[in-house]
Amino acid sequence: MALQLGILISGNGSNLQAIVDAIAAGKLDATVKLVVSSRVDAFGLKRAERAGIPTLTISRELYDTDPLAADTIIANALHSAGVDYVAMAGYMRMVRAPMLSSFPNRIVNLHPALLPSFRGAHAIADAYNAGVKVTGVTVHFADEHYDRGPIIAQRAVPVAEGCTIAELENDIHAVEHELYPSTLQLIAQGRVRVGDDGRVHIS
Ligand code: GRF
Repeated sequence: MALQLGILISGNGSNLQAIVDAIAAGKLDATVKLVVSSRVDAFGLKRAERAGIPTLTISRELYDTDPLAADTIIANALHSAGVDYVAMAGYMRMVRAPMLSSFPNRIVNLHPALLPSFRGAHAIADAYNAGVKVTGVTVHFADEHYDRGPIIAQRAVPVAEGCTIAELENDIHAVEHELYPSTLQLIAQGRVRVGDDGRVHIS
């Protein structure tokens, strides 16, 4: 059966768009049931509305004063919408216990670097400023730590001589837009499993 996806965003939503487009193109066997935003002004909300996907926005005040209540509301809304798998796509908040226990090993995150290098919110700039010759993109399961959790897929992106940070960002995003939907398709096909060793195995 198709994945029933919930997508968590905070900003532009280009990866949400890539997922919606991959579904429309028949490359991803999924339906996006709900988009949740941590910001009222996220452009991704407009993309969701354009695609006819219901949305929920959580206020900054709630995240700041009671993050567990925020995650309880999100988890309940996702369940009510019939979601069975959650994809974070540029979501700038942690997922906490109410989300992790509601969707065990069913929340995936996208990170614009080759984890475990360059964790955090400025991964592309951090890699660029470190002068690495290769960086990349990681898709991993979310857990209670930021940018940790079992790695599902990675793809390298070379840092060409003389390239600007804007060019590197473009290259990273282009890879994300391909890697995230194709990794979700592996999940939709039931080919992704977390082993007893804590590593992801793909059949
Ligand atoms: C992506 O680079 C993702 O890896 C990072 O935030 C960015 C989100 O971009 N976590 P978008 O909102 O999907 O356009």
